[in-house]
This record gives sequence, C-alpha cells and structure tokens, in this order.
Amino acid sequence: SSADQVTVHFVNRDGERFTAIAKEGESLLEVVVNQNLAIDGFGACEGTLACSTCHLIFEKDTFQKLDAISDEELDMLDLAYGLTETSRLGCQVCIKKSMDGLTVRVPVDVSDIRRQMEVGKQS
Ligand code: FES
Repeated sequence: SSADQVTVHFVNRDGERFTAIAKEGESLLEVVVNQNLAIDGFGACEGTLACSTCHLIFEKDTFQKLDAISDEELDMLDLAYGLTETSRLGCQVCIKKSMDGLTVRVPVDVSDIRRQMEVGKQS
C-alpha cells in the first residue's frame, strides 16, 4: 500500500538529485540499492559497518530526530571524509514515516577504509 511509502531525495556529489520512494523500515543503503540509484561506490561493504562509503549528510532537523548512534557506527563514521555535524552512515539509518520528504546529501569525498588498509599493506 502507499501508506508505508516515504519519499526520500538524494543529492549526489555532482548536484544531481534523485527521488526515491522508500518503505518504512528500509535502511537508506537499501533504498539506494533497491532503487538502483547511480551513486558511485556507495555502500561498498553492503551494510556491514566496514567501509563508510554510505556516509550521508542530513538536514539538521531530521538529524536530531534520528535514532541514537551506536559506538560501532561512530567508530566507522570517524573514518569518513568530509564528516559533518549531521553525518550518519546510510546503512544504519532506517526509514520512518516521519521522514517523508527527507533530503540527504552524498558527501563529495568518499573513503573506503578497506581500500586504505589495502594501500597500507602494500607500502
Ligand atoms: Fe559500509 Fe555502511 S555500507 S558502513
């Protein structure tokens, strides 16, 4: 039914906007994957809290209403480039009805911590 549908807008790095119809309970990563949004390199670890490529920047109002952040998410978020005061990891934020009309921004820089570790190993 349309009752559990929530509209979410994504602003990609280049300013391109995507509008997705999400379902309550989906994570923002699932929204990107399920709707095939063309956000390069997003969600590299498939939501296992091992990358930070799903870093999204929220509007202040929405950010304050999100569920509390876990230590695991906080640790991974710390490694994200371009961290802001309203940053979260998209794989850890689930859609709620109250988020209808939400806009999230994809940060310009993405860091995949796993890639950094690979580079570290080689040098
Ligand atoms: Fe890797 Fe969210 S998808 S931490």
